[in-house]
Amino acid sequence: MGAQQAQVRDRFAELYGAEPEGVWAAPGRVNLIGEHTDYNDGFVMPFALPHRVTAAVSRRTDGILRLHSADVDGDVVELRLDALAPQSDTHWTAYPAGVVWALREAGHEITGADIHLTSTVPTGAGLSSSAALEVVVALALDDLHGLGLPRRRLARLCQRAENVYVGAPTGIMDQTASACCEPGHALFLDTRDLSQRQIPFDLAAEGLRLLVVDTQVKHAHSGGEYGRRRAGCEKGAALLGVDALRDIAYADLDAALTRLGDEEEVVRLVRHVVTENHRVERVVSLLHAGETRAIGPVLTEGHASLRDDFRVSCPQLDLVVDTALETGALGARMTGGGFGGSAIVLTETTTVATLTKTIESAFTTAAFTPPRIFEAVPAAGAARVG
Ligand code: GLA
Repeated sequence: MGAQQAQVRDRFAELYGAEPEGVWAAPGRVNLIGEHTDYNDGFVMPFALPHRVTAAVSRRTDGILRLHSADVDGDVVELRLDALAPQSDTHWTAYPAGVVWALREAGHEITGADIHLTSTVPTGAGLSSSAALEVVVALALDDLHGLGLPRRRLARLCQRAENVYVGAPTGIMDQTASACCEPGHALFLDTRDLSQRQIPFDLAAEGLRLLVVDTQVKHAHSGGEYGRRRAGCEKGAALLGVDALRDIAYADLDAALTRLGDEEEVVRLVRHVVTENHRVERVVSLLHAGETRAIGPVLTEGHASLRDDFRVSCPQLDLVVDTALETGALGARMTGGGFGGSAIVLTETTTVATLTKTIESAFTTAAFTPPRIFEAVPAAGAARVG
């Protein structure tokens, strides 16, 4: 057992007066390519980060859910399962409680739990701290109750917790990434049927690195902007007579945009989603062909599309991308939902130190809060760890 697991167990025992039945962990993610495509039934390509949420958990039989987080000041929060109701909670506790609610709503008999959590996933950084929190709780309860739910089903239940209980209209990418990613691989996911392929992604072997630059600009997807983009995409699909924008082939994009006529905003949203799906497919082909360096410009095109067409970037994210490219990066783009959060930079290993310094000093010159920069290596998905 690792030192962190032992610490989580000890703290659980202090809080609840007995050893936990087990310890589970679920990671945050970065998305390599495929942004704002998941609620359009499209393609995404995330990989898991080594940063994770760890949960020590025991069952209860009295209909009570007790929650505690090492990362939030405060006492144990006690909730009655039969009182859990969608959008009744605006605190962090809504995520784990929402998972219990979603499991029960789906007919699984959860009779209560004691949960102690601790996280190394930065919050509000576009790295899926919420999905990691949901997935770790879902996996722990699935294991303890012997539910045997497939990972994709767990991801769907976690998404339902987030959409309905928390009230954030997000897609399925983050929960699936946390539940299904494998070390050394990026996950090529078709969000329509959750079919997936693990794509080997070992940058170090090719003398490359992927940096994550957390701009420290906090974002939240329960706010209106994310939902407005989603509604705009749904409007586009309806106007074009398809179930989802995924159904517009890249070859048919120009014709589709012509049909949308003067619906200027919808035109921009549709153009982003259709070209972004195509970019995911291009990245998959390039990686398959061993042309890893050539994905750089595709990532950068993705950023331009998110900035100009989808309009979810912000000055800090644009500064990371512009500075990285001027300093010799192979490609860079914002990752995650946007409106703040993180960017990724693909670079030669030899350029990492210069890039890091140059981005930091660009932030100082612009009088922005200093960014947090770290290297991302594809890590494992959710698992029992103790
Ligand atoms: C957030 C959401 C995801 C996805 C991304 C954008 O991370 O949780 O479902 O829509 O934004 O790609």
